[in-house]
Amino acid sequence: MSDLASKVRSLLRPEILALSAYHVPDSSGYVKLDAMENPYSWPDDMVEEWLVRLREAQPNRYPDPSCSRLKAKLREAYGVPEEADLLMGNGSDEIIQIILMALQGRDATVLAPEPTFVMYRQIASCLGLKFVGVPLREADFALDMDAMRAAIETHRPAVIFLAYPNNPTGNLFHTDDIAEILQIAPGLVVLDEAYTAYAGRSFMPRLAEFDRLLVMRTLSKLGLAGLRLGFLAGAKAWIDEFDKIRLPYNVNVLTQISTEFAIEKRSVLEAQVGLILQDRQYLYEELGRLSGVQVYQSDANFILFRLLRHDANQVFRKLKDSGVLIKNLHPSGGRLVGCLRVTIGMPEENRKFLKALANVLAS
Ligand SMILES: Cc1ncc(COP(=O)(O)O)c(C=O)c1O
Repeated sequence: MSDLASKVRSLLRPEILALSAYHVPDSSGYVKLDAMENPYSWPDDMVEEWLVRLREAQPNRYPDPSCSRLKAKLREAYGVPEEADLLMGNGSDEIIQIILMALQGRDATVLAPEPTFVMYRQIASCLGLKFVGVPLREADFALDMDAMRAAIETHRPAVIFLAYPNNPTGNLFHTDDIAEILQIAPGLVVLDEAYTAYAGRSFMPRLAEFDRLLVMRTLSKLGLAGLRLGFLAGAKAWIDEFDKIRLPYNVNVLTQISTEFAIEKRSVLEAQVGLILQDRQYLYEELGRLSGVQVYQSDANFILFRLLRHDANQVFRKLKDSGVLIKNLHPSGGRLVGCLRVTIGMPEENRKFLKALANVLAS
């Protein structure tokens, strides 16, 4: 081992050395259906208005550290109950990191059903926290409540993450199951509502019922992935503590101005969501027609499907060779063996994907 490599090994924590970096493939030139983005750009007149608004930005000054104007707009637009406070994040990834950094002791356990959003496990591992994944039911990816009850009893998790709808499976967990988890959990329960725009369901109105419930949102999936804005709603007692960890200027001035503007214009984004929902139905039906494909119903802006007779790695590679980039989940193993995930794109992108997939499956 070189001197430098052994220095790196001796100075850094073993859990960091053991991790693999979150991999983002180069997508240039592809029909990009891998990252749950809203594929639609803004109409020209909206772009012009946005650019005028950006003139307000003062790049020589730090941004408003408390995002007060933006917070007021978010509260109004997303029905945040009056008694709840907000924590702002550079994407919801940062909020997950802040919550986990605040936990007491390195023995704290983080629990989530799996498969789910990989950053819960990744960030917990990075921080040296124990992570417990509880397999979802095999047939329908619902919460396995017997397994959840047992795991909660055994591990007494400090935090439970529930993605609602779940990524990568696309389903909404049953409301009664979530309510039971909220009753029996000894610590925090974070409902990660990243895809709420496509599901129309939320626990936001129920915040006052459960003082250990936190509702996390992001504007990424609605159409602002490039701006990086996430937020967490919950009781002031929690938010005040998390806010001490948040770096003072984590939401930059361009993001603050642009998200305020986008929220004012949210009817445009909502119309785009409407188109995506129509195309989700189309894609679901068309995928269901392909033989050897098991397709799962989705409440998000992507669809999970399983190849019953083909090698998923090969199909993924051939789709990529034909210019279509989706997400290969087969390497994750477990419940995701044979699974691929496609984000709903624009109609012509969806057609290209379906055509390429039909060709690959027939070849
Ligand atoms: C369930 C879930 N939560 C959070 C995120 C991260 O979102 P952000 O872009 O706000 O960091 C994702 C992104 O894929 C996700 O699927």
